[in-house]
Amino acid sequence: MAELVLDRKSQVKTGKLHVLPDGARAASKKGVKKFKVYRWSPDDAENPHTDTYEINLDDCGPMVLDALIHIKNDKDQTLTFRRSCREGICGSCAMNIDGTNTLACIKAIDDVEGEVKIYPLPHMPVVKDLVPDLKHVYAQLESIEPWLKTDSAAPTRERLQSPEDQHKIDSPSACILCFCCSTACPSYWWNSEKFLGPAILLQAFRWLADSRDEATGERLDFLEDPFKLYRCHTIMNCTKTCPKGLNPAAAIGEIKKMIVARQH
Ligand code: SF4
Ligand code: SF4
Ligand code: FES
Repeated sequence: MAELVLDRKSQVKTGKLHVLPDGARAASKKGVKKFKVYRWSPDDAENPHTDTYEINLDDCGPMVLDALIHIKNDKDQTLTFRRSCREGICGSCAMNIDGTNTLACIKAIDDVEGEVKIYPLPHMPVVKDLVPDLKHVYAQLESIEPWLKTDSAAPTRERLQSPEDQHKIDSPSACILCFCCSTACPSYWWNSEKFLGPAILLQAFRWLADSRDEATGERLDFLEDPFKLYRCHTIMNCTKTCPKGLNPAAAIGEIKKMIVARQH
């Protein structure tokens, strides 16, 4: 009988518990919360594990990112995560918090009941701790050529666009490429080598919907593929999880409609 053994990196063990001193716990006005955080380093032979940190909420700001920064500054400098804007703009603090992909900087600690469980974005290779490896998704982004393509002569001034046409790209342009959506998509989990996933397809739609772009046919030729586009089965996890309130599933539907429309 075949014996299946999980890869070392697939077995998440229980790690250290970093407790507060009794005095700090008793003196806390806002209370104490536990943060259970995924840890893995390529630099040692240990399994991935979850370390638990008790935090006095008097000592940190209101968001999950504030707690992570507090842990890194005052408790454990080895904890590794990405962040930059702390305003929900850069997309770098995307992670899985309390079972949902979201941005740590706009996720309120008070919105999580009980201990706060924090993992990297699912089904992505991990560089270290909460940092996913984004090489593949950025290569996919590059593949859709996300820039204005035109054949007509360059205008003497800017390429004009009506307010109505601009409005068509407002929403897809608001995507911050956090990849919460792609990493929540079961189709992307199983087919990420070939399926472009909702984040990249939303960007593809952004250029298809741009009235100034003249490469629509070429872009649709590239997308009309059983894997790149049609692995989307309208499960809608992407739209449900987007922390910016965008609708990549609808954009994917629009691309499919454009492909059908040009066949008639
Ligand atoms: S709608 Fe499509 S892209 Fe979005 S989660 Fe479902 S299968 Fe994935
Ligand atoms: S559509 Fe939303 S979840 Fe997906 S990458 Fe853009 S901002 Fe992030
Ligand atoms: S730190 Fe920029 S989106 Fe969270």
